[in-house]
Amino acid sequence: MRERIEKLTELVNSLKCKTDKEVEEMRVRLLGKKGEITLLFEEFRSVAPELKREFGQKLNLLKKDATAKIEELKAAAASTVKGAASAGDVTMPGEPHQLGSRHPVSIAREQIVKIFRKFGYDVAEGPEVEDDYHVFEALNFPPNHPARDMQDTFFVSTGHPNPLLLRTHTSSVQVRTMEKSKLPIRVICPGRVFRNEAISARAHCIFHQVEGLYIDEGVTFADLKQAILLFAREMFGPETKIRMRPSYFPFTEPSAEVDVSCNICHGEGCNICKGTGWLEIMGCGMVDPNVLEASGIDSKKYSGFAFGMGIERIAMLKWQVNDLRHYFENDLRFLREFSTCVDV
Ligand code: PHE
Repeated sequence: MRERIEKLTELVNSLKCKTDKEVEEMRVRLLGKKGEITLLFEEFRSVAPELKREFGQKLNLLKKDATAKIEELKAAAASTVKGAASAGDVTMPGEPHQLGSRHPVSIAREQIVKIFRKFGYDVAEGPEVEDDYHVFEALNFPPNHPARDMQDTFFVSTGHPNPLLLRTHTSSVQVRTMEKSKLPIRVICPGRVFRNEAISARAHCIFHQVEGLYIDEGVTFADLKQAILLFAREMFGPETKIRMRPSYFPFTEPSAEVDVSCNICHGEGCNICKGTGWLEIMGCGMVDPNVLEASGIDSKKYSGFAFGMGIERIAMLKWQVNDLRHYFENDLRFLREFSTCVDV
């Protein structure tokens, strides 16, 4: 009996079965009703009493090992079957990966930034959650200006003199730049802004801006006009014309609204420019002396200009997108139209 136990132990230790079927056959051979191990247990009844202890232990161990081994082989066989099925035909060509592409707002922002970098502007960024001081106060907004109203601004905290809010323009970054930079300053501030507006084809409560600021001795409105003209030609093509209409912003004086000649009808009048031949692209003006002084800049010595544009709007005009909401809906059919866009 000792010999048979030893032989079976050896067999169990070296067992190798690949398929489910082989494992099952082995289980029946060893542990089935008439299995070799089962038979040994039957014979064990007639073993001499002085040998019972030794054989009993050996038999129990053998049964335990055999059961564990069969379980292990069963699991291994099952996973190879699964593995083989999911691998399929490994010689088949792979499934194509869909490549993502840049969002049109990112493409437009990068184009705008690139143009101004070429003109020598630095890029500055600032916090989206700002305080009243940097968004309004330092920019010469009187305390009761309507833009401070809950209608236009998302307040994060109220009830104290300098509440936190979501910035409504990136002019706040210009204030931060004026506070800490040495003169002259030539900077653009791209970023996300927030206004409490109803969402429509032409307005959204979240959008993106690039604002610019240039401060030095002797900067004039002529410099502003030239900078905007150069930008417009780089962005919309060398034939582009600009015109300026008087406007009002608390932080610039004089202020203007800039239009570019319609790049669809070239001034003839079409439905994009609503028959006028012109498209509005930005606000601008000479920095109000109060704004310079608020940030510690001597307004008798220095002057400057500022401008600000909505990136979505520039992108709409450039690529004739007729609904602002397309930019936020992530419809792949829309986004894919920009997948081959190359830089200016
Ligand atoms: N901050 C203005 C806006 O958000 C744009 C602007 C910037 C106008 C600088 C004039 C000068 O609409």
